[in-house]
Amino acid sequence: MPVEVRLEGLTKVFHSHRESVVAVDRLDLEVEKGELVTLLGPSGCGKTTTLRLVGGFEIPTAGEVYLGGRRVTHLPPQRRDTATVFQSYGLFPHMTVFENVAFGLKVRRLPREEVRRRVREALKLVNLEGLERRYPRELSGGQQQRVALCRALVIEPKVLLFDEPLSNLDAKLRVETREQIRKLQKELGITSLYVTHDQAEAMAISDRIAVMSEGRLQQIGPPYEIYAHPANRFVADFIGRANFLRAVVRGPRDGRVEIELLDGVRLEVPAVADLHEGDEVVAVVRPEAVDILPEGEGDVTATVTFAHYTGSLATYKLALPGGETMEVEVLSPQEKGFLSEGTRVGVRFHRQSVHLLRE
Ligand SMILES: Nc1ncnc2c1ncn2[C@@H]1O[C@H](COP(=O)(O)OP(=O)(O)OP(=O)(O)O)[C@@H](O)[C@H]1O
Ligand SMILES: [Mg+2]
Repeated sequence: MPVEVRLEGLTKVFHSHRESVVAVDRLDLEVEKGELVTLLGPSGCGKTTTLRLVGGFEIPTAGEVYLGGRRVTHLPPQRRDTATVFQSYGLFPHMTVFENVAFGLKVRRLPREEVRRRVREALKLVNLEGLERRYPRELSGGQQQRVALCRALVIEPKVLLFDEPLSNLDAKLRVETREQIRKLQKELGITSLYVTHDQAEAMAISDRIAVMSEGRLQQIGPPYEIYAHPANRFVADFIGRANFLRAVVRGPRDGRVEIELLDGVRLEVPAVADLHEGDEVVAVVRPEAVDILPEGEGDVTATVTFAHYTGSLATYKLALPGGETMEVEVLSPQEKGFLSEGTRVGVRFHRQSVHLLRE
C-alpha cells in the first residue's frame, strides 16, 4: 500500500514564560493508504500536538509533513486534504444537523443539489436520518458525536484525524461508537490518524498503534505485536498490565533461551536477539500468562497476598519465594474457585508468553 501520511523528524517546541516544552520530538511515522494508526500515550506526551501538525493547525519547529507524497508542512488546514473530529465535537450550535454537515461542502461551493445528496448519504452512513432539522442541543452526546463524524466524512477527505473523539461518551456508548467508526473507516477505506490515551480503545480500533512518551515514539506495530513483544518497560506497562521479574540468562538453546528467576526457577522462553549467558534481563509476564494450580504443582509455590473479584475476573497478588510480587488474573473464578488471602498455590508460567527485555 502507498504511504498516505509521512512525518519526518517532526518536532514542535512551545515557548512560554521563558520555558520551552518539547511537545513532539523528532517523530518519524508513516500511515499507509486506508490504514488506521493510533497515537497512544499518557497525558501530555504530544498526541494532540502531532495531530494538529498534520492538520495544519500548528507549524512544526523542525521536520516535515507529507500527505499523499506532497509536502504540506507549511500549508494552512483548508489547503490540506484532511478533516478533524474533535473531542468537544465543535458543532455550530445555531445550525441544524443538516446545516452543520453541509457547512464544509458549502464552503467548497458545491452545487445545492449535490450538497443535499451528499449530506443525506453521509447522515445515512452514521444512522442519523430523520434528525436533519434538530439543533445540537436537542441531541444526545452520542448523536452529537456522530454529527461531528458525519461532518468530517462528508467532505471525503484523504485523511481523517480523530482527537479523543469518544471521551465525552459513557462507557457503553464509547464501545458502540468506536465499533461504528472502525466499520465505516474500513468500508470507506479512509486513511486515519486516531488519538487516544485509552489502551483498550487503541487495541480495538487500530491497524497499528504508535506508542508515545514525552514527545517521542516508543514503538509502532499491530496491537498484538505491541502487546506480545513490547520494545521496552514503558510500552509493556502502558499496554495492558505487566509483571517485571528479574532474571539471569543461563544459556541459549536453538531459538529459545533458558532464564533463571530470582527464586531459582528455570524457564525456557522465546529468545530475543543478542543474549548471552550471565546477562541480566527482565521477564515481562502478563497477568493472564500463568496457571494457578494446587500447592506443590507447577514451577513454584507462592502465597496469595491480595484477592479481588470483579465477576468475570479474579485478580490476585502473589508473593513469590524470591521476594518479588506478581499480579495474576484468572478468568471464570466461579468455576475455578475463588482464592482467599493467605492461600498457598502453585504457579506455572506460560513459556511462550514470556517476553524478555534487556535493560
Ligand atoms: N500552545 C501550547 N503552548 C505551550 N505548551 C503547549 C501548548 N500546547 C501543548 N503544550 C504542551 O505540549 C505538551 C504536549 O501536549 P499535547 O496537548 O500534545 O499532549 P496530549 O498527548 O494530547 O495530552 P492529553 O492526553 O492530555 O490530551 C504538553 O506538555 C503541553 O503542556
Ligand atoms: Mg490531547
